[in-house]
Amino acid sequence: MIMTASARTLWIRQDRVEYPVVVGEGVLDELSAHLASDPPRGAGLVPSPEVPHVLFTDATVNALYGDRVEALLRAWGLEVLRVVVPAGEASKSLAAYERAVGEMLRGGAGRKSVLFALGGGVVGDLGGFVAATYMRGIAFVQLPTTILAHDSAVGGKVGIDHPLAKNALGAFAFPRAVLYDTALLRTLPPREVRSGLAEIVKHAFLAGEEYVSFLEAEAERITALEPGALAESLLRGIAVKADVVSRDPYETRGIREILNLGHTVGHALETLGGYQTFLHGEAVALGLAVESRIAERLGILASCVRGRLEALLARFGFDLRWPEGEAYDPASVVRVMLRDKKNVRRKIRFVFLADLGKTKFRELDPEGAEAHLRAVLREGA
Ligand SMILES: NC(=O)c1ccc[n+]([C@@H]2O[C@H](COP(=O)([O-])OP(=O)(O)OC[C@H]3O[C@@H](n4cnc5c(N)ncnc54)[C@H](O)[C@@H]3O)[C@@H](O)[C@H]2O)c1
Ligand SMILES: [Zn+2]
Repeated sequence: MIMTASARTLWIRQDRVEYPVVVGEGVLDELSAHLASDPPRGAGLVPSPEVPHVLFTDATVNALYGDRVEALLRAWGLEVLRVVVPAGEASKSLAAYERAVGEMLRGGAGRKSVLFALGGGVVGDLGGFVAATYMRGIAFVQLPTTILAHDSAVGGKVGIDHPLAKNALGAFAFPRAVLYDTALLRTLPPREVRSGLAEIVKHAFLAGEEYVSFLEAEAERITALEPGALAESLLRGIAVKADVVSRDPYETRGIREILNLGHTVGHALETLGGYQTFLHGEAVALGLAVESRIAERLGILASCVRGRLEALLARFGFDLRWPEGEAYDPASVVRVMLRDKKNVRRKIRFVFLADLGKTKFRELDPEGAEAHLRAVLREGA
């Protein structure tokens, strides 16, 4: 078990690409060493001296860490073009994408520019999508700054939302490296800490008993951001994700889809809330609870596992009550779920938890899904 806060490197292999994920307190201070050193120590990245490189971040993270990271990049000898988008999910939009690309074109970024995405999942997804498409694709590095980003920075899914559907536009593009400085997590507001823990819980239930009981034992220390417990929970989450995405890099083998646990309902909640009401993790937490109740009704999941899942989410402070208001009527939820990327033949494809470390796919027709959702809400999820 890793109980120190020192740097740990995990190599991820996807398709023919390999990239390091370096996790630890203060890893950003050694940014150039981690990125420039030859593998296996570093990523072997040599940015061109001929073009500016893009420090891509949001306004909140920029105010906290922008100057420091820019200074580190300049100390490495790079010319830096800073692109700052507003904080929050609303920046995963075509409008923000267009503005960012405009700033890069005006600032002289070229094909050899490297984009450094400094921020949470929004910056990683948008910045990664900009990098995947700018001049047909430039190299990028993920510098995650949220707990949630232990998930989003790894695996190579990048993209933006459409008002009608979450992550409707995107690409697979793998970062050259992920540098995850856990010291930066201390400035996260409590609501963002909690939001990130939803994906940790998801990863734990996908992994099995050991990770789940670790979280049950360490919940308070993790919530308090105690470095040892926090780093351990993040590394375990990254390891789960790394294992899945290395076996199914492009979600074509029916393996990677399990990472959508909690997200069929969760994404619908985010869309119905106009990407403003719920943080991603809040929607996923409620999605995990509701989907596990549907799984229990279908006879797929035992009530004791469902109970442990809800108890852990409650200990992390999630509100598992269904939101009030007509917008969240089961019929509307089903209408949005029908646009989910996983679907085939107008059936809604769910990944359900079947046990600790086990999942099952089920396709429900819209009427069936709505009936189950209504029944679960009547019970009071
Ligand atoms: N690509 C993937 O595989 C994947 C996986 C999971 C989630 N996601 C996406 O990730 C997004 C959510 O990510 P998120 O929760 O990190 O959101 P986020 O990027 O919006 O960050 C949350 C908030 O915290 C602020 N913040 C970030 N770092 C901070 C720090 N160190 N100190 C203080 N404040 C800080 C940000 O400015 C923002 O307001 C969603 O769009 C979701 O769809 C993608
Ligand atoms: Zn997610």
